[in-house]
Amino acid sequence: MNIAIVGAGYVGLVTGVCLADIGHHVTCVDIDRDKIAKLKKAIIPIYEPGLEDLIKKNIKKKRLNFSTSIKEASKDATAIFIAVGTPSKKNGDADLTYVENVAREIALTMDSYKLVIEKSTVPAETGKKVERTIRLNLPAKLKKSKEPVFDVASNPEFLREGSAISDFMNPDRVVIGVESKKAEKILREIYKPLKPKMVVTNINSAELIKHASNSFLATKISFANALSQICDKVGADVLKVAEGMGYDKRIGRAFLNAGVGYGGSCFPKDVDAFVRLSEKSGYDFRLLREVRNINEEQKSSFLHLIEDKLWIVKNKTIGVLGLAFKPDTDDMRSAPSIDIIKALQAEGAKIKAYDPEATENAKRIFKSVTYCKNPYEAVKGCDAVLLLTEWEEFKKLDFKKMKTAMRQPILFDGRNLYHDYHLEQFGFEYYGIGRGDL
Ligand code: UDX
Repeated sequence: MNIAIVGAGYVGLVTGVCLADIGHHVTCVDIDRDKIAKLKKAIIPIYEPGLEDLIKKNIKKKRLNFSTSIKEASKDATAIFIAVGTPSKKNGDADLTYVENVAREIALTMDSYKLVIEKSTVPAETGKKVERTIRLNLPAKLKKSKEPVFDVASNPEFLREGSAISDFMNPDRVVIGVESKKAEKILREIYKPLKPKMVVTNINSAELIKHASNSFLATKISFANALSQICDKVGADVLKVAEGMGYDKRIGRAFLNAGVGYGGSCFPKDVDAFVRLSEKSGYDFRLLREVRNINEEQKSSFLHLIEDKLWIVKNKTIGVLGLAFKPDTDDMRSAPSIDIIKALQAEGAKIKAYDPEATENAKRIFKSVTYCKNPYEAVKGCDAVLLLTEWEEFKKLDFKKMKTAMRQPILFDGRNLYHDYHLEQFGFEYYGIGRGDL
């Protein structure tokens, strides 16, 4: 099938490339000329394992194109995915300006039937607004048509950064929100090669599934983080508590890892948007407001731990291992490292940092951080080290070498990565999250 994807950001790009790989002819559109010129040469703007190879393969097979024109990309397309950004406004609402602009442009350039699919995470009822925008802006000749000339559908994404390609190729489920048989048929055909479990519903429910899924996962994390606070106080081990809970199939072990809090481009934004959406619909989603508060408190409590154990923060040198909001990505959006580093700097600490991929993005966020080429350089001469992102590389460090390089061997493990490493035997003073048992 010929498919256009509008918005070559994270979601659009991964979706477009993967759809090409399962056999469709895809054109990805973006207004950023520089980005499109680079994509044509398979130079990708983000770090996502496997994506570059897949782009090269599908450009070669002539199934993947890039363009700056919606008109050109949608000309022969049956389906057009809208995958543009929906940033948060100051009040927590999702800003849908880009979605509206794209919907209008799709309408203005429409010459035959199109299925317009929302892929961006949008509040419930956006589908209706997209439908109305398209209807109002259709060319005169299409307005007169007796047959429907377009349908709108919702097809939320559930891709995790760092494993987006395998998430796309092996989905737990594909959710489609449709209002016509034709739209359902087209979407089923698009995903047929993956043989996925399909959840077919109306547009509003599909939009809500996305919000509810991400908010529920964020709730699980905040639950684990709240537990970690109690574990610290009563001498329990949050990892064992999570393990003991997780064997219950109704609960499951995933997303019960306590740490310095969730970040990224989705959870903070989606929880905010869901709280706002509920508020506007007349329901105060108190549970989610607390999920958000607990996430913020988790960073403050980590800072208190550092202040307590380091005694004086001013003029101390602190090494940071990991800046990205999670491993296998260069994404710094809402990374817990941002608040933690800025707070320590405000107290007069000097920060040295190492991240395998996120350094360039971090440079746009922090002032006066010394970026290092490897973990050992980052901890050299430090009074303490913070582990903030659990990159694979950090699992295999030479702790003897680290201890020798540091001025003071104190390690704050914000992800419980070293929970069973017994770092005390290397001479470290070790602090994890929710490890009241230590
Ligand atoms: C998320 C969803 O998982 C995905 O389905 C969605 O559509 C996009 O948003 P992503 O933001 O890439 O994906 O990351 P994810 O792996 O879900 O982690 C989000 C954050 O939660 C990270 O900061 C991570 O470190 C944190 N996290 C995750 C925890 O603190 N504890 C956990 O147990 C799991």
